[in-house]
Amino acid sequence: MSDVARPFTVALPTDQELVLKVIPMPADCNASGDIFGGWVMAQVDLAGAVLPARRVKGRIATVAVNEFIFKQAVKVGDILSFFARIVKVGRTSVTVQVEVFAERFALQGQYIKVTEARLTYVAIDKQGKPCPVPEA
Ligand SMILES: CC(C)(COP(=O)(O)OP(=O)(O)OC[C@H]1O[C@@H](n2cnc3c(N)ncnc32)[C@H](O)[C@@H]1OP(=O)(O)O)[C@@H](O)C(=O)NCCC(=O)NCCS
Repeated sequence: MSDVARPFTVALPTDQELVLKVIPMPADCNASGDIFGGWVMAQVDLAGAVLPARRVKGRIATVAVNEFIFKQAVKVGDILSFFARIVKVGRTSVTVQVEVFAERFALQGQYIKVTEARLTYVAIDKQGKPCPVPEA
């Protein structure tokens, strides 16, 4: 069985928001033809910032990648869907859980979870110092 037909497809989450869709290109590959982990991390950082930025309504900075798991390889041409939800709002920080699902090019409509991560963003002022997250 080829790697595009392995039976671990899942349903997309219904309790999280779709914050980004993107298709990796050949320039994002390593020498083995798989997508660089660093490229995936950059996309997750962008996707993870969407809900904290909306909540803070101002400038934010990534302070921590609390957890990052690469569950399956990402391939050129995969349609990646990034889902996020806020898991914690602190005094100056917002923590989000991000899950990434791939539709293989040849198997669209079937989703494989490829990555999950938890990241923390901090609300910052004009001087780049932490400031309180506004009330919801
Ligand atoms: C983000 C930054 C402004 C925070 O400043 P700081 O003085 O370290 O902040 P604090 O120690 O007061 O922590 C601020 C918040 O971050 C949280 N935090 C800090 N380190 C954390 C970690 N490792 N994991 C989770 N949360 C963390 C704190 O708990 C606090 O949240 P709270 O107020 O909701 O309780 C500063 O560290 C910074 O500028 N970092 C660089 C950011 C950046 O450039 N990011 C892009 C990566 S290249």
